[in-house]
Amino acid sequence: MSRTPTTPAELAAADRARIIHPYLPGSAEERVIMTEGSGLRLTDAEGRSYLDATGGLWLAQIGHGREEVARAAYEQMAKLEYFTSFWEFSNDRAIELATKLTSIAPEGLGHVYFTSGGSEGNEAAIKMARYYHHRRGDTNRTWILARHKAYHGIGYGGGSATGFPVYHEGFAPMMPHVSHLTPPWPYRSELYNGEDPTDFLIAELEQRIAEIGPGNIAAMIGEPIMGVGGMLVPPADYWPRVREVLDRHGILLILDEVVTAYGRTGSWFAAQHFGVRPDIIVTAKGITSGYIPLGALLVGDHVAEVLLRDHGFPMGYTYNGHPVACAVALENLAIIEREGLLARATEIGGYLHRELTAQLGDLPVVGEIRSVGMMLAVELVADRATREPLPMLQPLLPDVIRRETGVIVRDCAHSLVLSPALIMTEAEAKEAVAAMRQVLERVTPAGELRD
Ligand SMILES: Cc1ncc(COP(=O)(O)O)c(C=O)c1O
Repeated sequence: MSRTPTTPAELAAADRARIIHPYLPGSAEERVIMTEGSGLRLTDAEGRSYLDATGGLWLAQIGHGREEVARAAYEQMAKLEYFTSFWEFSNDRAIELATKLTSIAPEGLGHVYFTSGGSEGNEAAIKMARYYHHRRGDTNRTWILARHKAYHGIGYGGGSATGFPVYHEGFAPMMPHVSHLTPPWPYRSELYNGEDPTDFLIAELEQRIAEIGPGNIAAMIGEPIMGVGGMLVPPADYWPRVREVLDRHGILLILDEVVTAYGRTGSWFAAQHFGVRPDIIVTAKGITSGYIPLGALLVGDHVAEVLLRDHGFPMGYTYNGHPVACAVALENLAIIEREGLLARATEIGGYLHRELTAQLGDLPVVGEIRSVGMMLAVELVADRATREPLPMLQPLLPDVIRRETGVIVRDCAHSLVLSPALIMTEAEAKEAVAAMRQVLERVTPAGELRD
């Protein structure tokens, strides 16, 4: 039997030998092994301290290491750790959380379907949309409209709606009946033939619906702000106009708010920020700030009414409405409310945006700085006039920034993105931006780093 690894070197060796990490080649030597977290600070096995400006994977709304959340989990586990939510079974925490979620949701979304994460949520939403039409006798409505540069997780449904070839290559055949549209990305005006971006995108949407046939389309799925695409913020009139077109053709709107929900944009849901009324909202991540896996779909009453007919909605996960996850979510949402973190996201997000503009705005490789609340991106270019994307050479910029400064940011294609905890202080915001400046001011238009 092998000995349990304890020293940093042993842990790293055992990790290399045993764990398959997403997106990490077997040849990679480096490991950053986190052992503790508090607020925005993380500590690794070697005792090095980090500033987490990525909020884990865009989810740590309330920050790391909150004892009140640990207590909520402990108390629930000691009382009832699990029972199923299939059939007539339920539990008090799931009911309490569903009541809370529907009280903060956009009007008309009065039903909840629990999952354990975002990918599971998008699978459920796509199935719900198809099943809704099927139960109404509209059985040809199987197509799903999505966008290039969308990320909807890694299931075969949501994964097919995901609009990056890299997530499909080698996994084919993907789910049929998915059609990808142009993403809203106003900075890339070349995508729109010189037209107003929304006019172009709405015309394309109308044309695609006509090509597929409106009676064949179940739903359109979209992230209100495209995260993995590089925090792409649509023009203000995009979602209301998309909604109007879909309504005219009886097509459901699924908003994938896995990243944008629970305060990240300064509202409970980005649907409220953009003034759009979806039929289904998919959430996960920030619902528990990552303390435990959980997701929740908010479902329109008109959709739920159809799903609940006859024998009900025929798909369930073992962990639907897990009581411990629901107890953690309730405490997380209570903290967001108690500490005024929706307003805080707008306030500190605005500060961070201004700081990015002041410190990085003059650099030749910085093309656009964009944000809504605490979702921010710095799009990097080789040339500000042509807006040609900055080539991504090795080592990747987030790795350089982390190794040099201990600040953790992330890249999405040629953008650096930030999505820190909503409790970030101004001093922490300054620290994150200074770290980015220290590295970005040495980046050449060829994407190389000067010493
Ligand atoms: C918009 C969006 N949808 C879905 C997912 C997938 O969620 P999960 O990783 O919890 O399955 C993600 C993950 O980053 C996401 O950004």
